[in-house]
Amino acid sequence: MYSDAACFFTRIENYNPDHVACLRMAISENFQISCSRLSKRFVNRGETLTAFEDISFQVRSGEFVCVLGPSGCGKTTLLRTIAGLETHTDGELVVKTSRADGNPDIGMVFQEQALFPWMTVYDNLAFVLGNNPDFLQAEIPSIVNEFLVKVGLEKFARYYPHQLSGGMKQRVSIARGFATRPEILLMDEPFVFLDFQTRLRLHELLLSLWQSFQKTVVFVTHDIEEAVLLAGRVIVMTARPGKIKKTIDINLDRPRDIFAIRHKKLFLGYIQTITELLKEEMQSLEIE
Ligand SMILES: Nc1ncnc2c1ncn2[C@@H]1O[C@H](COP(=O)(O)OP(=O)(O)OP(=O)(O)O)[C@@H](O)[C@H]1O
Ligand SMILES: [Mg+2]
Repeated sequence: MYSDAACFFTRIENYNPDHVACLRMAISENFQISCSRLSKRFVNRGETLTAFEDISFQVRSGEFVCVLGPSGCGKTTLLRTIAGLETHTDGELVVKTSRADGNPDIGMVFQEQALFPWMTVYDNLAFVLGNNPDFLQAEIPSIVNEFLVKVGLEKFARYYPHQLSGGMKQRVSIARGFATRPEILLMDEPFVFLDFQTRLRLHELLLSLWQSFQKTVVFVTHDIEEAVLLAGRVIVMTARPGKIKKTIDINLDRPRDIFAIRHKKLFLGYIQTITELLKEEMQSLEIE
């Protein structure tokens, strides 16, 4: 098993055997991820804490789903559970894979870039590809160069992470997420620490990569605009223990112009609807 920090972008080894059994059962279904009445409880020194409860949703292959919810409602735990890094307590989780070994290929991008500080940008990308048995050593340089161009970092291939800006580091993380060609990309507030303009650029980049590669993406955020901008569907969660409050289809055309879209009535309507839903949850947090 890779350490937590290192499995951001690579296949999760030793995928939970319960999940693998589910995979085989559900291989013909038309979805990539299915959570059915999923719950997760943590027990700490005899105290039980329910992170999320009774979560049911499916994500189709190639879909872009955003998950929004108040702090502490279990979003990160849910992503970690889908990634096989946590075991759910109740319910059923099915993660479909086309891989013969039953281990789904899942890439992860988190809010803090887990780049190896002692490796250059080039080596950070080459390393994860080299560790993935799906890639031949001979093809790695061309894949790394292709993705450096895609994220606009070809001139920075020989730079170390400390020589990059936050946005550049996050571009390396995104490149790494897509370059390994995972079936599923899980993203946990990847742009939260970036300034507004850098976020906009990364939204554009992410959408264009997603459009090209049609990966299944589950993207957690606190930012309502970000969710509506990116997603085909937004799942709004309640305050902890997180349940699904509402799922909203985002019927905005693709490809999306992230500047023009902000002025659309439909876009503003979604923002308003989701803001109202989250306001209710914030109020319930205050009462708590
Ligand atoms: N390993 C753990 N052991 C015990 N409790 C945990 C563990 N991981 C998370 N929790 C608890 O589960 C709850 C949900 O945490 P989680 O990090 O999933 O929330 P979140 O929705 O991602 O929050 P945020 O929006 O602030 O990132 C929290 O109350 C947290 O304390
Ligand atoms: Mg979180």
